[in-house]
Amino acid sequence: MIELRGVSFSYPESPALRSVDLSVAEGESVAVIGPNGSGKSTLLKLICGLEAGFSGAYAFGGEPITASRLADARFSKDFHKRIGLLFQDSDVQLFCGSVYDELAFGPRQMGLGEDEVSRRVAELVGLFGLERHETRVPYHLSGGEKRKVALASVLSLAPDAICFDEPMNGLDPKTKRYLRDLMVSLNANGMTLLCATHDFEYVDGVFGRAVVMSQDGRLVRDGPYAEVLADRPFLAEMNIV
Ligand SMILES: Nc1ncnc2c1ncn2[C@@H]1O[C@H](COP(=O)(O)OP(=O)(O)OP(=O)(O)O)[C@@H](O)[C@H]1O
Ligand SMILES: [Mg+2]
Repeated sequence: MIELRGVSFSYPESPALRSVDLSVAEGESVAVIGPNGSGKSTLLKLICGLEAGFSGAYAFGGEPITASRLADARFSKDFHKRIGLLFQDSDVQLFCGSVYDELAFGPRQMGLGEDEVSRRVAELVGLFGLERHETRVPYHLSGGEKRKVALASVLSLAPDAICFDEPMNGLDPKTKRYLRDLMVSLNANGMTLLCATHDFEYVDGVFGRAVVMSQDGRLVRDGPYAEVLADRPFLAEMNIV
């Protein structure tokens, strides 16, 4: 489903990804681990079509993803419907005047009628227990509440794949366990998951596979999650544990 071949990406001041090869099949659940600044967020943003000026090849569902195709409104809309990103910082993700509008935004963009939009919003509000917050300004919510609204807004488009960028950050233990169970059930229902994380104690059973990024933006390990996590000397050397 996701195929990166020799993908490199630089910000104006610095290289962030160096010659990354990564293939993720439909229905896989993959942890992306690595020290601060190793390019995890950059990789997830690039996979979600939010960083276009890369070299190498990227295909999603067999379709090449290029800067010119992403600039095409119809292609880009269709692509963004199929893969969603839960940002590391929820404030970047939330921009509407109410929680309701935040959850309705994506479905409205996709041209759904207001009846279908309100049905989807009601479902997500129920799923995340947001009933008391529907009319509130997202900006005023607590960090964990914002994360729930952000995740609900990603799910509102019913994507085939979701990239989670350190989704457990700032959540209380109960919400972390809830999110863990939600990720397991999304994946069990066929959704492809990629997730940057440092929260190893809360993600038990979520991932089948792990890839490790090094400080200089290379993908240096790719294997079964349990095996990668069991190699403590390697993870310690990489400043991950
Ligand atoms: N918008 C940006 N402009 C310039 N440089 C950036 C930008 N975003 C990230 N970088 C740089 O690119 C490199 C990779 O950053 P990235 O955010 O992808 O790392 P990360 O692995 O997600 O780190 P963390 O664990 O801290 O979230 C870092 O050196 C970072 O300083
Ligand atoms: Mg990051």
